[in-house]
Amino acid sequence: MQLGALKFGTFTLKSGRLSPYFFNAGLLCSGPILYTVAQAYALILTTSTDTTTSSFPHFDVLFGPAYKGISFASTTSLVLHTHHNLTVGFAHDRKEAKDHGEGGILVGATIRDKNIIILDDVMTSGKAVRGSIDLVTREGGKMVGVVQMLDREEVGADGTSSTVKEVESIIGEGPGRVQSILRMRDLIQWLEKNGRSQELVAMKEYEEKYGLKT
Ligand SMILES: *[C@@H]1O[C@H](CO)[C@@H](O)[C@H](O)[C@H]1NC(C)=O
Repeated sequence: MQLGALKFGTFTLKSGRLSPYFFNAGLLCSGPILYTVAQAYALILTTSTDTTTSSFPHFDVLFGPAYKGISFASTTSLVLHTHHNLTVGFAHDRKEAKDHGEGGILVGATIRDKNIIILDDVMTSGKAVRGSIDLVTREGGKMVGVVQMLDREEVGADGTSSTVKEVESIIGEGPGRVQSILRMRDLIQWLEKNGRSQELVAMKEYEEKYGLKT
């Protein structure tokens, strides 16, 4: 919030929904905040956050979808080395085709025959992460999981589906393969704790309307 990456107000999302909050991970762009974010990703990657689901299996490479994912994957691989004694590669894609020099759409660690985890900021419909999963798979990588910074915990356009569950079914290794650092319910809890009643009302209304019914 100090950096403006998380804002409360009224925002129109790509889906057309009027959201009482907006998250822009692109503003997480200083040394201290990148360090905090990378430590959070590293913690999720190395511990099981939910006792009902398994933690991630062995992974070799962190894939950061261009552009925002690049800094998260690179800094997280650094923290996995310094804080967790793990050697993990990092790779990202290019948004533009390249017609000279080293070709290809991928940059960084080789992903062929490797276990891959995608680091993402926030998935709404999940379209972007599906594209990344397709790319990793097409290039011979084996998808083992996705970690997103914020789970909006919303239903899809059909009114029932969960993006997290859909992406987990694409990965095909059962539940728990899509993890999140923060969830909508954490934001609500934070507003409650800090007595931000006006924002809280708007968030609860939104959750009532678009939140996952579990
Ligand atoms: C770090 O990992 C390597 C091999 O994976 C191991 O040999 C080494 O003892 C570990 N270092 C620490 C400080 O745990």
